[in-house]
Amino acid sequence: MYQQAAWVITLLLSAFVIFIFLFVLMKSGRRVEYSKVQAKGYFLRSIWLVILLVGFSTASYYTLKDLPFERAEGKGAPLDVYVEAVQFGFEVSEEKLQVGDYVAFHVTSSDVNHGFGLYDENMNIVAQTQAMPEYTNTVYYQFEKPGTYTILCLEYCGVAHHVMSKEITVTK
Ligand code: CUA
Repeated sequence: MYQQAAWVITLLLSAFVIFIFLFVLMKSGRRVEYSKVQAKGYFLRSIWLVILLVGFSTASYYTLKDLPFERAEGKGAPLDVYVEAVQFGFEVSEEKLQVGDYVAFHVTSSDVNHGFGLYDENMNIVAQTQAMPEYTNTVYYQFEKPGTYTILCLEYCGVAHHVMSKEITVTK
C-alpha cells in the first residue's frame, strides 16, 4: 500500500514539475519590464518561503515520529542485552529469552563496522541497527512469538562476513 502511495505521489510531483517547465517555456517568449516583475517576485518569494518552512516542518515532524523501530516509551523498563560484533561473529549476553520480553539490544563492535539484523523464524527482519566500534547503538524489540531468531551481519566487513550469525531462542 505504501509503495502504491509512493508511486502515485511520484507521478503527481513529476506531472507538477513538467507543468512548471511547460508554463515557463510558454512565457519565455514574452518581454516585460524587469523592475515591475521584481517587486512582485520578491513578494511571492517570501510567501513561498513561509509555505515551504511550515509545510516541511509539519511533514518532517509527523513522518519522523513513525521511524520504523520501537522506542522505549510506555513499555516499562526493558531487559538489557549486550551485543558485541567481532570478525566474524556476535557475542550476546543473553541467548535465551522468553515470549513477552521487551529487550533493549545494546550493540557495539570490537573491530570494524558491522550490521545487526534480527530475523524471526520466517527470516523477516524485525529489528536492525549498526554495530560500530567505540559506540553503542540501542534498538528495542518485544518478542511476541516463540522460536529461533537469528542475528545476521548486514554490512560487508571482511572475507567471512557471510558467516556472521547468532541464534537466539525465545521460549514461552
Ligand atoms: Cu560483520 Cu559483515
